Amino acid sequence: MSYPKNFLFGSATSSHQIEGDNKNSDWYNWEIIPGRIRNNDNSLRGDSWQNWRQDIELLKNTNQNAYRMSIEWAKIEPTKGHFNLEAIDNYRQQFKELKKNNIKIMLTLFHFTLPQWVADKGGFANRKNICYFTHFSEKMIEEFGDLVDLWATLNEPNVYVLKGYIEGLWCPGQKNYLNAIKSYFNFIAAHNQAYKAMKKIRPDAQIGPVISVMAFETSKPNVINNIKVFFARQFSYDLFNRLTIKNSDFLGLNYYLKTTFGPKNKSHKKILLSDYNWEISPEGIYQITKEQAHWGIPIYITENGTADAEDKIRPQFIKDHLHWLEKAITEGAPVKGYFHWSLIDNFEWAAGYTMKFGLHTIDRKPRPSAKTYAEQIKKYQQESK
Ligand code: GCO
Repeated sequence: MSYPKNFLFGSATSSHQIEGDNKNSDWYNWEIIPGRIRNNDNSLRGDSWQNWRQDIELLKNTNQNAYRMSIEWAKIEPTKGHFNLEAIDNYRQQFKELKKNNIKIMLTLFHFTLPQWVADKGGFANRKNICYFTHFSEKMIEEFGDLVDLWATLNEPNVYVLKGYIEGLWCPGQKNYLNAIKSYFNFIAAHNQAYKAMKKIRPDAQIGPVISVMAFETSKPNVINNIKVFFARQFSYDLFNRLTIKNSDFLGLNYYLKTTFGPKNKSHKKILLSDYNWEISPEGIYQITKEQAHWGIPIYITENGTADAEDKIRPQFIKDHLHWLEKAITEGAPVKGYFHWSLIDNFEWAAGYTMKFGLHTIDRKPRPSAKTYAEQIKKYQQESK
């Protein structure tokens, strides 16, 4: 068996990372402080706010039938209770153009950035702010429920807590364990409340969270290392899933790398690293998909990709990960779609533009891997006929 008919083959981006014109968001006000972003880059190099039609052409030229993007809350509601009708219309035009080209839309409501007015109230570390996210979610499904196919409430709350409240390397740049714990559980409440509120407006909407998952394993199985793997899984994602699964129609998994506990690789097997020094493990997509299949709801691989400026490893990366994902599906994993990160090079948070994840460069030139992905999609679609 190959990929099922109507499987979604797409790519993913996020508003702050590709749109530009970000001046009302907390991340923009954070990133312009010198020293926070490599090379003192900022997100204004993105131009998709004006040029999203060119992005849709890239999707069409590479046989993609789905697109995961996010909507920028800071553009939609720049001040509390004030909704920017021009911004809403710009998104509506983009969604209509995607639908016209038979491209399914997965829309992420929170992809790491907040309106500055929400951040000023403490962001997701303050439980009182959850109602603002709920209201924003209600407004978005009222506006776009007729165009959006899949709704992703939160992108990688686990990564946001780690980077923003423990390591302090990303906005809001805190090293505050209390706020880390508060925001972790507030994200769980925010997803559950947004889900219930959105379902009241559109009961047939398909809504789920997107979490970052890693292929955790140990190179030396023993009690200590097995406990490390267990707790790494629990606190990275299984606890979040357990507390949100009953309010989820699907599970979005962002998979990039393997993490090994125990002595460094003794097998002398060549370890392939990305430009980000992430250990590449195509088998890992099989492992995490099979692990997460037990929740019993559809799965989407909502991000998978690699930082590879010279496109040396990305073509084989794509082939290998799609091969191992096909194996998981053949063995019964309920995977309904795959979104490659990313369609184009973009603002990689604290790494600025130094890490290049795009099938296309920032000026939308296709890399060889764009052709590889297009060919893989065509091959799998022909096999599933
Ligand atoms: C994340 C985000 C993306 C990243 C991508 C590469 O996981 O941090 O979803 O915004 O750009 O994962 O790191």
